[in-house]
Amino acid sequence: MNGYGAHVAERQRRVEAALSSTGHGALVLHAGHEVCYFRDDQHVPFRTSAHFAHWTPLSGPEHLLIVRPGERPLLLHHAPRDYWYEHAPLGAPAWAEHFDIREGASRAELAALVPPLTRAVLVGPDPSLAGPLGLPPAAVNDPGLLARLDWDRSFKTEYEVGRIEAAARRAGRAHHAARAAFAGGADELRIHQAYLGALEGTDDELPYPGIVALDEKGAFLHYRARRRGVRGRVLLIDSGATEAGYACDITRTWTTDDADPRFVALAEGLDRAQRALVAMVAPGVEFAELHHAAHRAVADLLVEAGILLVSVEAAIDRGLTRPFLPHGLGHLLGLQVHDVAGRQGASQGGEVAPPDGHPHLRTTRTLEPGMVTTIEPGLYFIEMLLAPLRSGPDRDAIDWGLIDALAPHGGIRIEDDVLVTTDGGRDLTRHTIDAPIRCGR
Ligand code: GLY
Repeated sequence: MNGYGAHVAERQRRVEAALSSTGHGALVLHAGHEVCYFRDDQHVPFRTSAHFAHWTPLSGPEHLLIVRPGERPLLLHHAPRDYWYEHAPLGAPAWAEHFDIREGASRAELAALVPPLTRAVLVGPDPSLAGPLGLPPAAVNDPGLLARLDWDRSFKTEYEVGRIEAAARRAGRAHHAARAAFAGGADELRIHQAYLGALEGTDDELPYPGIVALDEKGAFLHYRARRRGVRGRVLLIDSGATEAGYACDITRTWTTDDADPRFVALAEGLDRAQRALVAMVAPGVEFAELHHAAHRAVADLLVEAGILLVSVEAAIDRGLTRPFLPHGLGHLLGLQVHDVAGRQGASQGGEVAPPDGHPHLRTTRTLEPGMVTTIEPGLYFIEMLLAPLRSGPDRDAIDWGLIDALAPHGGIRIEDDVLVTTDGGRDLTRHTIDAPIRCGR
């Protein structure tokens, strides 16, 4: 919890400035509420609203946090009287010393604990809470205030970076276990179980459903299945961990001795390219420029491998790398795996669109100290995207025999999480899982 007090003080400063510039007098943050599947009494797994989690690691629904200029933040802890589910008592965690805390068993009890507020605004997923809190419907999720809060989340405090690093240490151990399971011949389900076992976590605790793809399934960017009884020669594993609500997001691609050496060379080349892209992270760098550099690196690899039969320049000019790298180079990371404000133009809002031909680029920001971004170039054989080229004007620019030989290997992605520092970047994840692409068998 290093730096937690300074983190809360920074939140207070930032919120006071945001309230003042948007004409509000107080902020009420709602942790969120439980939701059931349609016509069912089973709950969708609960996730705390990120704006609430930005202040406190307290988990669970219905808590309220009230922030007023010049006052200590007031946490209204929801503690239902309930024998169906266990609601752990708050106890005395170290973080709690930074708040005034009251407790209530229901929304009504919590609402009765809210002090008189002037020009308050509610931020949270349930607008119907405004009435019980005595707020007008217009005082919910004001876009101008939300834009400022979203923007502020781009700049991580020391405490937040520490949480991402702690998540990365756990995820690194789990990635090592998954690699060993793959080398031992495990199927997708068992590799995923090895990951969770080393993480000592459950699926619900992952920041996003882990991607565990053997061979051709690596060409589905968000592959979700857990096949049983299938051994692979390539593993693409994209899986993270959370710590106090903060995510890490790591992808590795491993190969066995059975993999085609030409595919292995591509994977090793992409790994080198990814390290070079990480080394380019620095304040003042346009993320879109890094994305273009990733396409150039993929063009280099495809030309060198003899897959593209034109020059690197021609490949870029004719957009031939796009079917092989159809996602963005990365995204901001924090309380959400795809953190907010990746395309936000300014603290007041607005959006900076991605470059033409690159609609999936999630980050169009200029990098600034305190941002954490993923750097995740990929190179895939996705028939749906390649098929139009087979009969198009560029069909002779591609060695289709080589594509067909390598396509059963699926794809490659290498991903780390990088903090932008005052004079460069610091890779928060590479050291936790840095092993040769070839892992034997
Ligand atoms: N690593 C999963 C994703 O970024 O969607």
